Amino acid sequence: MIELDLALLCGTMSQWFCEGLSRELKIEPLKLESRKFPDGESYVRLDGDVGGKDVILAQSLSPPQNDSIWELILLMEALGEARARRIILYIPYMAYSRQDKAFLQGEPISIKALLQILSFMGGSSLVTIDLHKEHSLMFFRGKAYNVLPIESLSEKILEKVRDPLIIAPDAGAMQRASAIAKRIGAPFAQLSKRRDLRTGEVKIQAEGIDVGGRRAVIVDDIISTGGTVAKAASILREAGAVEVYVAVSHALMAQNAMDKLKSAGVSGVIAANTLPPKPGIEYFDVTREAARALREALGLSP
Ligand code: R5P
Repeated sequence: MIELDLALLCGTMSQWFCEGLSRELKIEPLKLESRKFPDGESYVRLDGDVGGKDVILAQSLSPPQNDSIWELILLMEALGEARARRIILYIPYMAYSRQDKAFLQGEPISIKALLQILSFMGGSSLVTIDLHKEHSLMFFRGKAYNVLPIESLSEKILEKVRDPLIIAPDAGAMQRASAIAKRIGAPFAQLSKRRDLRTGEVKIQAEGIDVGGRRAVIVDDIISTGGTVAKAASILREAGAVEVYVAVSHALMAQNAMDKLKSAGVSGVIAANTLPPKPGIEYFDVTREAARALREALGLSP
């Protein structure tokens, strides 16, 4: 049970999961005023006494990402002004995590910039869901937890797909996909993927994988434009898969991602509730796993 010197503050970009988080943690969220000045600048004000308290500050860095980040920074500053004891960040979707190195000369490491700012603003620990590359957490000064939602995602796949074949669309997706396959006792295979760094064009191959007559589930961290999973799905369908599903932690669904997936023959999309709900997606809830990490970050028993 959580002690009384704790508070929960949900940013604007966490409203769709705040109630569940509040129930799971057994803390009422603080009231928040957030609006824009007529010139477009942001204004926030929190209502409630946080002096001396440990505050869980929840915010998904969902689109428009820069607005979400800026609101988070203002909230951290407001908590500092109000003399909060510790700020424990819960950021289910971490924007900029895919720019985790300078791929081309002259580029920034965007995730480094972001995590350094959050450290500077007083974030004492951080819980995030399925970060693109876990090693990026070294840029955050405090203790950081990357929660892979293996439990909840496995449950959802089992509920939706009978006798699945789990597919990792590339080497980077292997750890997550193989952990899911192991948990549900399903076979597992990996496609090979290469991306042209200048044009962004993706090439995917399924050499040596037998998918004939199978129901394949592509497990990845994120759908952004849908290009990666749409290509993987087409290749799996061509190779004889009877159905192809996609299961991800973050469904950004930029541009016409859903249309692309449908044209590629995807039968269903499963995603975690780390981003605002979109039509046509079946969501699974990662709150229980996140709350476990938050309790650990607070030094409480799980
Ligand atoms: C790449 O390494 C990631 O894991 C995703 O596969 C990729 O970022 C998804 O982007 P898109 O949906 O635009 O292909």
